[in-house]
Formats: sequence, structure tokens, C-alpha cells
Amino acid sequence: MKVLVTGGAGYIGSHTCVSLSDSGYDVVIVDNLCNSSIGMVKGVEELIGRKLPFYQVDICNENELDAVFEKEQIDAVLHFAALKAVGESLEKPDLYHRNNVGGTEVLLKVMKKFAVDKLVFSSSCTVYGQPEIIPVNEDAPMLPAESPYGQTKQDCEKLISSSGLNSALLRYFNPIGAHPSGRIGELPIGVPNNLIPFLCQAVAGLKDELVVFGDDYPTDDGSCVRDYLHVCDLAEAHVAALEQLPHGIRAYNLGTGSGTSVLGVINAFEESTGESVPFRIGERREGDIVAIWADPSRAEKELGWCASRKVGEALADAWRWQQTL
Ligand code: NAD
Ligand code: UFG
Repeated sequence: MKVLVTGGAGYIGSHTCVSLSDSGYDVVIVDNLCNSSIGMVKGVEELIGRKLPFYQVDICNENELDAVFEKEQIDAVLHFAALKAVGESLEKPDLYHRNNVGGTEVLLKVMKKFAVDKLVFSSSCTVYGQPEIIPVNEDAPMLPAESPYGQTKQDCEKLISSSGLNSALLRYFNPIGAHPSGRIGELPIGVPNNLIPFLCQAVAGLKDELVVFGDDYPTDDGSCVRDYLHVCDLAEAHVAALEQLPHGIRAYNLGTGSGTSVLGVINAFEESTGESVPFRIGERREGDIVAIWADPSRAEKELGWCASRKVGEALADAWRWQQTL
């Protein structure tokens, strides 16, 4: 089976290309490299031991996407390509809509044209906002999006739901870590917003210190709680979703099923790497969700997938990757 991976040069897409290839799929990558580099494709090729067809194409460009589908006999699509910075989306909402929603519209149109009816989509737990019940399951209501980025995920889920394709909507919780080889990982472009890249840069001496955004929340230690999952577990979930693709549409939470606080992450990092994390407690970050973690039981039951790696392992892998940068 030949799988087109949009955004395959990115953080999660690149790890998924390795898992797909390990499971015997032929992989074709489309990426415009707006948030990645060709080095990531080379890293994937090194890990799998062969070259991959790579097209530097913007998915918003219908003619160029048509040409890829004409050249390759695509059987299914894993769709990662999107802009993902919440802060930037507040400054450039139109760009986010055009790229993420517009790009998905073009992709769906081209898939229809070429009679490709299998799609796995990268969604996010951001569609739930702060849920009333934790752990959150897929039947929880979607709350009004807190950012234009979050809005694009809700809009794309709706578009795909009405497309008639057989699709899995994968709602990721917090992907962290890197391939244990240290060959692929998350590329730091600008100042990282996310906890783990910032923490790693602070430990590497590239930032003075990590600021913990608030320790007065109603959680066990006062800091916010998230469900951090290893990017390799997440990559494997995509293979499982492809293999058990539903007829029609189905959403799946992808998380570990347990929450870790920011202070808990710092402790786990120190324990698993032996490095100490320079940090101080700062103000709350506006708009932060207090606590969320997944109920991943649907993915376990229907896809046969569950996260197997521990947070400490993911943090050690993130640190190994940081040291290669
Ligand atoms: P990433 O930025 O590393 O990867 C996205 C890739 O898509 C990049 O390589 C980028 O160059 C490419 N891209 C963007 N717009 C494109 C376009 N118009 N045409 C072609 N290529 C384009 O991000 P990631 O962390 O790997 O995220 C992958 C997907 O998962 C995204 O859809 C993101 O919204 C979603 N997601 C990510 C997280 C997270 O925390 N990383 C959480 C939930 C959901
Ligand atoms: N945090 C800090 N200091 C930092 C960075 C983060 O204390 O320098 C804290 C945050 O307050 C939060 C936790 O670390 O409590 C995780 O923050 P991230 O920014 O890494 O992750 P979020 O869960 O806030 O957001 C992420 C993605 C969003 C996505 C959301 C749900 O950044 O794009 O998960 O998928 F929408």
C-alpha cells in the first residue's frame, strides 16, 4: 500500500514515516518545508535505509498536488501538513485558515478526483477546551475554540466528516520526545512555546531558565497537568489507525491516559537524564487549560493501540535530540 504523508518532513510526520516504513508501507512525502527542513527527510531515509519520494509542494496548490497523485499511485493519505503555533495564529488568523482549512479542502478535492478514500487526520485535544470531565473521552462536547489554530482543527474535522471518506480523526494530546537514535526530532524554529523544547534549551544553556507558568492552580502541586505521550507511540498509532480504518468517520483520543504536572515533568527529566533544570515559578499563562488527560480506551479497543513508553523515556530522548542540535 502506498501512503501519501502530507507534512512528512515535520516533527510527527517524520516519525510516522519511519513507523509506516517499518510496517511495510511505501511512503511518499509532500511538504513545503515552511516549518521543517530537507534534513528531516534525510534523517528518515537514514533510519529506514532507503530513499523516499519527496515532493516540495504546498498542499494549497491544486495543480502541484494533482501532479503528485498522477505520478504516484496513492492508496491512502496521512494528513499532518498544517501551521501549529497557537500564538502566531492569534496574530495571523487568516493565514492559519487559508493554510490549514484551505489546504485540507484542496487535499480532499484531489483525493476525490483520484478516488482515494482513506484518510487519517492530525487533530488535537484542543477541540475539547477545558473539559468538565477528566479523563476526557471522544464524546465530550467540542467547546468554542480558544485560538484560530484550534478553530482550524474543528473546521477540518467538520470538512472531513462531510466528505464521505473513510477517515480517522486522531486527537493528539501532548506529543514529546524524539526518535531514540537522535536522528530525527522537533526542529526549534524561533523561541519555543512548548514546555519540553524550552526546558531542553534551558538545560543546554541556550535559555537562562524555564519559567513554570503558575503554581497556584487547583492541581496536586499547583502546576498545570497534561498528558505527554512519546512521539514514537504516536507514530505507531497512525499505522494502527490506517490498518483499522473505519468505514465512515471516527475520532480517537491519542494519549497515555495519565496526567503529569509541569513540576512533575521537571522531576522526571532530572531523574531520567541526571541533568538539573534551571527554573523559576512565574505568572500563569493566559488561556492555559488547568488540567487535561485522555481517556484513550477507544483507541485501545478499536485500534489495538496504547502508549507503551514512559514520560521519563520520552524526556531522555528529547534531551538526546537537543544535544545534536
Ligand atoms: P510540524 O510543523 O513539525 O509539521 C508540519 C509540517 O507541515 C511541516 O513540515 C510543514 O513544513 C508542513 N506544512 C505546513 N503547511 C503546509 C502546506 N500548506 N503544504 C505542505 N506542507 C505544509 O508540526 P507537527 O508537530 O509535526 O504537527 C503535525 C500535525 O499535528 C499538525 O497538523 C498539527 O496541528 C498537529 N498537532 C500537533 C501537536 C503538537 O503538539 N505537535 C498537537 C496536536 C496536533
Ligand atoms: N509551560 C510552562 N513553561 C513554558 C511552556 C509551557 O510552564 O515555558 C506549561 C504550560 O503552562 C502548560 C504545559 O507547560 O501547562 C504544557 O504547555 P505546552 O505549551 O507545551 O502545551 P499545551 O498543552 O499548552 O498546548 C499544546 C500545543 C497546542 C495544542 C494543545 C492541545 O502547544 O498547539 O497542546 O493539543 F493546541
